[in-house]
Amino acid sequence: MRILRGEDLKPCNSLSLLARASALVNIHDSRDLPRACKWARERGLDVVALGQGSNVVLAGDLEALVLRLQTRGMEILEDRGDTVLLRVAAGEDWHGLVQWTLQHGFHGLENLALIPGTAGAAPIQNIGAYGVELESFVERVHALEISSGDSLSLDAAECRFSYRDSIFKGELRDRTLITAIELRLPRQSAVNISYPALEDYFRDRDGRDVTPGDVFAAVVDIRSAKLPDPATFPNAGSFFKNPVVTPERARELASAFPGMPQFPQGDGVKLPAAWLIEHCGWKGYRDQGIGVHPQHALVLVNYGGDSGEQLLALADRIAASVRDSFVIELEIEPRVYGRRQ
Ligand code: EPU
Repeated sequence: MRILRGEDLKPCNSLSLLARASALVNIHDSRDLPRACKWARERGLDVVALGQGSNVVLAGDLEALVLRLQTRGMEILEDRGDTVLLRVAAGEDWHGLVQWTLQHGFHGLENLALIPGTAGAAPIQNIGAYGVELESFVERVHALEISSGDSLSLDAAECRFSYRDSIFKGELRDRTLITAIELRLPRQSAVNISYPALEDYFRDRDGRDVTPGDVFAAVVDIRSAKLPDPATFPNAGSFFKNPVVTPERARELASAFPGMPQFPQGDGVKLPAAWLIEHCGWKGYRDQGIGVHPQHALVLVNYGGDSGEQLLALADRIAASVRDSFVIELEIEPRVYGRRQ
């Protein structure tokens, strides 16, 4: 276990923000985790887990031991014929896992193609895209308790998944490190192309004969056209959650703002934060090396400003203008570390 001091975190976060960690360990074997946690405990340092850093905002230096989870391994734990149960190590690349499952004839994850990040980070925000959420496939999440180094395992119900949320963002926040996930995937399943962008994509085929491989290719196409590649324009995907309002409030908003898109979500109505932000005039805004992407108003981009504080200041201004125009509170989606919490 090699402890690196004062490590530059710019290459470790997809927003490419400038920050340093007081200590950092690259974890290739999860058996090193209890020792790493003990090391941090003895020095009074917090432990921060980073996968690919694709859903974090580093607002300043981290007085912490950063653990970069780079463990690998995908195995079939059980094959029931119609479904398989997979165990995937936390450090596996999510998109690589999606490709691997399709190559092996295991279906369901195709709508979640090209989501940046690791498999271990996926349950934290219950990743979701194009009409599918991770929670439909999770059987168990394996984790380690930071304070004791003990292993624990949670079944899907215990993970308390909901839209962009789980117990790992709530009660277990900062208390556990995810070491592996177990997913149950079907061999045969109907494809899900109900999301408007996918419906449009397959319109001329009338939705017939669409295979999971076709859906995978479509999602890759749609995402690549809409969302900037972090390697070119550093970003953390959607910067805000889509707000969910009551049906009554949604009706009021629809009559006050004709054309506002609305989508049912559980008992409520989900409003696209991108639409609200665009209507406040922020799309394509750029100042001091920080801005809002010209193709997608929900994506904040670091154009070279490199400052997490500045990025958060812009996010505050955006949220304030949405509050003023629509009386709706936007909630930041990525996790903020360093100085401002
Ligand atoms: N829209 C605008 N302006 C824009 C972009 C979009 O008005 O600049 C409106 C359009 O009406 C569009 C609607 O917003 O119909 C929804 O846009 P989109 O389909 O791009 O989805 P989104 O709600 O912005 C969510 C997820 C994405 C996920 C897509 C596709 C959240 C916070 N974001 O975005 O997830 O890829 O749906 O399912 O739920 C992420 O979490 O980082 C992420 C990229």
